[in-house]
Amino acid sequence: MNRQRAMPITSRRRKYDTPESRWAGIGPYYAMFPTSFADEVIRDYTQPGDVVIDPFAGRGTAIYSAATQHRKAVGIEINPLGYVYANAKLNPGDYRDVTRRLEELSENAPCYRQEAYSLPQFFYLCFTDKVREFLLCARASLNWRRSKTDRTLMALILISLHGKRHQSFSNQMRQSTAMAPEYCIRWWAKRNLTPPDIDPVAFIRKRIDWRYVHGKPTIKDAIVYLGDSIRKLPALARDVKEYRRPKATLLFTSPPYHNVTNYYYDQWLRLWLLGCSDTPGKQENRYGGKFSNLSQYRQLLTQVFVRARPILADDAIIYIRTDQRESTLNSTRAVLTEIFPEKHITHALCPLTPNRQTKPYSRGGAPKRANCEVDLILKPR
Ligand SMILES: C[S@@+](CC[C@H](N)C(=O)[O-])C[C@H]1O[C@@H](n2cnc3c(N)ncnc32)[C@H](O)[C@@H]1O
Repeated sequence: MNRQRAMPITSRRRKYDTPESRWAGIGPYYAMFPTSFADEVIRDYTQPGDVVIDPFAGRGTAIYSAATQHRKAVGIEINPLGYVYANAKLNPGDYRDVTRRLEELSENAPCYRQEAYSLPQFFYLCFTDKVREFLLCARASLNWRRSKTDRTLMALILISLHGKRHQSFSNQMRQSTAMAPEYCIRWWAKRNLTPPDIDPVAFIRKRIDWRYVHGKPTIKDAIVYLGDSIRKLPALARDVKEYRRPKATLLFTSPPYHNVTNYYYDQWLRLWLLGCSDTPGKQENRYGGKFSNLSQYRQLLTQVFVRARPILADDAIIYIRTDQRESTLNSTRAVLTEIFPEKHITHALCPLTPNRQTKPYSRGGAPKRANCEVDLILKPR
């Protein structure tokens, strides 16, 4: 066990007094790791200079934590929202470029006046005319795949897209997940709630200023790729072999849980801003849904971990946080034991932390909220 720092990063993070702590919270994502947990795992299981991989990277918490502790880190995430959040904090644009881009959106937003009236009813009840124009302009103009400036600005807009009235652009909503449009419309009507009158440009400028107050995090060697790990891992393995890159000493991840959440449906509104459909349910890729077919779920885990193996050093540690329900836990354990028979496996129960966002367990017929998650840790014997 390797303890590098006298003072835990966690306590410094809470104070937001470093660039690393200011950027760590980007952005709200279902089943995200608490940053303090990720910091501890990285600190305890790796040394500076080591390589860490996360094939189910989500918003990139593990990768960011590794990078800010001077490890090299590679993640893969299939959902564009996780990709935008992860790379916005790993490689933010310069303050001046991001604010200039915001000014451009401000100038061009009125060009979207007409389009702002052709959206489904939900959007009128969720956002004011001015906010809809701004969002449509951002949606059409920001090149979040190619430009780090645009990606950073997009991430900051995405965080504020929905949440409490007056603390976000939207009528009253959850910040973590977007509910179905018909549900929101009924809920707002019953309470007579209208969209908050917000100046979107001033609102985002304030958030940019807060984020950059100590500058940008110093990160050298970390990235999250947008894509399917089943396809991307073999390419990474080829690179490691061909260019004799160092192998990873820690695989640190949390796969999706069996039959719990649909990462596309729950984030349909943010995915709309990234260019997807204005109707939930149409954003899915081939792994959409709630991973509810158990044999396909096992196949996903198997294919990803088999493909990760060639990138791992012989003495690598594998640290998996997963769900305590039998279906997820037994599948994960069985897959890991089969793929890494030479490693010793232990597990630890972890009480849910409030910001982990695994609360909406009880929706859609899924089991009631679990009280615990489980950490499976595989070490060389
Ligand atoms: C439990 S979340 C990970 C959360 C992450 N630990 C964090 O802190 O944000 C699981 C993630 O796996 C992603 N995922 C599912 N199938 C994938 C695949 N085939 N390739 C890459 N990512 C995938 C999901 O989109 C989801 O973001």
